[in-house]
Amino acid sequence: MCGIFGCVLKQGNAAPVIHASLKRLEYRGYDSVGIATISNSEIHVKKDQGKIDDVHKILNLDDLPGTIGIGHTRWATHGAPLKVNAHPHTDCTEQIAVVHNGIIENFSELKFELENRGHVFRSKTDTEVVAHLIEESFKRNPSLSLVDAVLDAVKKIDGSYALAVVSAKEPDKIVCARNESPLVIGVGEDAVYCASDIPAFLPVTNRAVFVNNGELVILSPEGYEIRKIQDASMVTREPKVIDWTPEMAVKQGYPHFMIKEIHEQPETLRNTLRFQEHYLDLISTFLDRAREVFLVACGTSYHACLAASYMFSKLAFLATYPVMASEFIEQHGKSVNIDSTILAVSQSGETADTLAAVTCSQQRAATILGLTNTIGSTLTRVSRVYIGQQSGPEIGVAATKTFTSQLSVLAQLALRLSKKRGKISQDEMDMLEEKLETLPETVETIIMTQEEKVKQIAHKYRDAKIFFFLGRGISTATAYEGRLKLMEIAYVPAIAFPAGESKHGPISLIEEGFPVVFICPRDGCYKTLIGNIMEMKARGASIIAIIEEGDEEIKALANDYVEVPRGIPEVLSPIPFVIPLQLLAYYMALERGHNPDTPRNLAKSVTVK
Ligand code: AGP
Repeated sequence: MCGIFGCVLKQGNAAPVIHASLKRLEYRGYDSVGIATISNSEIHVKKDQGKIDDVHKILNLDDLPGTIGIGHTRWATHGAPLKVNAHPHTDCTEQIAVVHNGIIENFSELKFELENRGHVFRSKTDTEVVAHLIEESFKRNPSLSLVDAVLDAVKKIDGSYALAVVSAKEPDKIVCARNESPLVIGVGEDAVYCASDIPAFLPVTNRAVFVNNGELVILSPEGYEIRKIQDASMVTREPKVIDWTPEMAVKQGYPHFMIKEIHEQPETLRNTLRFQEHYLDLISTFLDRAREVFLVACGTSYHACLAASYMFSKLAFLATYPVMASEFIEQHGKSVNIDSTILAVSQSGETADTLAAVTCSQQRAATILGLTNTIGSTLTRVSRVYIGQQSGPEIGVAATKTFTSQLSVLAQLALRLSKKRGKISQDEMDMLEEKLETLPETVETIIMTQEEKVKQIAHKYRDAKIFFFLGRGISTATAYEGRLKLMEIAYVPAIAFPAGESKHGPISLIEEGFPVVFICPRDGCYKTLIGNIMEMKARGASIIAIIEEGDEEIKALANDYVEVPRGIPEVLSPIPFVIPLQLLAYYMALERGHNPDTPRNLAKSVTVK
């Protein structure tokens, strides 16, 4: 997730306006920043890696001529956060500049074609292909308008984009285009703006025009004009008045980042499906050849590893050992060796315990693989191969969207490995891939239809002193994650363990009204789980069940239940089944008067051991 911005002013300098607007978009990405303006039919660019304030101190981002320009604040997905990969990107002639938010899935093929036509690329990004595509359109037809050249280019792109383009050939306009990544137009008295999000221009105008998928917008001193990309037909759309405060706008109207990020999961899950094949292939090849595989992480990322160990075993018949990073050195520091492979999972890529485990393994010649949300983080630098989870920055301290993204990537790796090993039938492979594709809609349905129910459950149990979270099989990982969320955000003591363990001790805690959350997908453990529910119920527990839609058998046993859509394959079930648990933690925190975004004693990235 990155932030793009552009403005066409009737008078005054565009650069300071762009700089200030990018600051308001910094929550969308902050590993590099750049601005391009047009003056005297020339493009002027300033960009570098680093946070906006740091880059501004060195380059003075306000000091660029011209009343028109575009800008970008980056969250790296392709290409490390280096100056060369910072946006704006230009074509060979440096007459065209582009900023982009999204993922161009076919950029490798497009880049190959363009290089064969003599185009010279400077960066490792997917975005740069857009500048050269537009240049190529002009080469083929010099009389083309910028609008037509952009239309030509975007029709060749597969994937998501919110683009803003300027060209020295037509220095009085910005051409934008949208497919899936957000794009909104701000309409001021003496200016028009384009941005990834309303906060960018809200302090200067509250009149916004929302751009739909498949639309292109032309910004000029005369205002804005919307066209359909498909046939260039005109679209008429009046501005809406936005009544948010700037603070609310950064959360897109949500009261907290955590609930915004829970609601973002359909989009972030779609993004994890836009992978470059070769990253998935490369990592699954390393896993295929590994003699022993440790999945190493902390906290929520460890729970993703725990779930992944079931995925790798059930799909690819690969034994993997999930290990809490803080225990890795004690447990395996002496045995890890050249035949070991470490898949380290860390959304921040900076967690000290995880990096310490990686360093220890590296010193003993183990192979290090990485899964992270933060390209350019330490984990990406120490990994032999890494894969980005493409969740966009997660501002809330509690990991929510980054957890489900990690699960999606790990499931794709397990599927890829299973295909490589010929362990499951083509039909099952097709079914699982189709189910992965529909998970974003499944999560959307859960949020839309069950959020209110979860809110009521949180209210009902707001004074509970302790919870159990129980699951069997892969749902044990989901139970652990639900427990962690409730503890860290609502400060409610909670215990999670495999449901089969209850009778080996913990069940002694149960008394009348003791809330026990059960994760109940209709998988191989379903029947045994019913038995676990009965044993808790017999001792007076209040059963809160996360069930598949229409599961009458468990509905009859539960005091409260939340339904997720039917037909989710067991190995993918943690993704939908964790959503109600994320919401439960959030609403329980509100019931108990806590701010879910800033839980006490916690930091977003634990960079100390
Ligand atoms: C999750 O809600 C917590 N904030 C915490 O457990 C976190 O998952 C853990 O510190 C690992 O962080 P990482 O993924 O950045 O390594």
